[in-house]
Amino acid sequence: MNIALSGYGRMGKEVEKAASARGHFIIARLDSPDDWGRFIPAAGDSIVVIDFSTPESAYTAVNRCFDLGLPVVSGTTGWNDRLEQVSARCLRENRSFFYAPNFSIGVNIFFEINRTLSRLMENLQNYSASVHEIHHIHKLDAPSGTAIALASGIIDTNTRYNRWQPGTEKGKGLIPVSSERTGEIPGTHFVTWSGSADMIELKHTAHNRQGFAEGAVMAAEWIQGRTGMFGMADLLGLGQTSTKKH
Ligand SMILES: NC(=O)c1ccc[n+]([C@@H]2O[C@H](COP(=O)([O-])OP(=O)(O)OC[C@H]3O[C@@H](n4cnc5c(N)ncnc54)[C@H](O)[C@@H]3O)[C@@H](O)[C@H]2O)c1
Repeated sequence: MNIALSGYGRMGKEVEKAASARGHFIIARLDSPDDWGRFIPAAGDSIVVIDFSTPESAYTAVNRCFDLGLPVVSGTTGWNDRLEQVSARCLRENRSFFYAPNFSIGVNIFFEINRTLSRLMENLQNYSASVHEIHHIHKLDAPSGTAIALASGIIDTNTRYNRWQPGTEKGKGLIPVSSERTGEIPGTHFVTWSGSADMIELKHTAHNRQGFAEGAVMAAEWIQGRTGMFGMADLLGLGQTSTKKH
């Protein structure tokens, strides 16, 4: 498979390693708007773009891929407000877009466990949910996309919750989502259900960036020949059933 990297920072370089290990070819490293300006794939070139850039550039990069008719896999976080617009264009124009705020297989299993636990806690009023995440000091967005996905998973599956908010303040229907930035931590997430007598805590720890990169390359392999908007639940064949209608 031929891969163009959008963003050649920490994750772009990790994806390059994972892609080479799986026998793929990196045909472009696009690390600035100028690089994108010079990127003109020949008609009929079979290329998948993998984007790990910045919240500002991801939106432009994905739209550029749609213009060029190239399938695109994005793991950039911090641009949730524009995802819906991109997804609408993808479906309207029959494009191929794979998005995951976290490509680690373990985290996606963690998402499922989070949803199951949230359903079990539906009638247990004594327990309240919160999310906490810890990342390296270079991370631009807070809370992390993964923490937001965890909070959304609870809102989706438990009728006691209808919104999340950054910080630690609790309130009726509200999930506090707190963030910590320290050292070079690749990503640690906690979901806590705290009661007066005890507490349940789910924790996921990424040891390094390898799992994110491998997941993104697997997504690029999987999206070839498919059109539509996809996520890790599609790739891994996981359920994502909601108890609420939005
Ligand atoms: N989904 C996941 O599994 C996952 C895992 C880790 C990180 N991330 C996210 O991926 C993103 C990148 O993380 P990182 O640690 O590699 O950041 P980074 O700062 O190391 O790299 C970002 C790169 O994007 C480049 N860039 C800036 N503008 C660009 C443009 N217009 N076009 C192309 N490239 C451009 C920068 O030069 C930089 O090299 C962040 O949003 C981060 O939160 C997601």
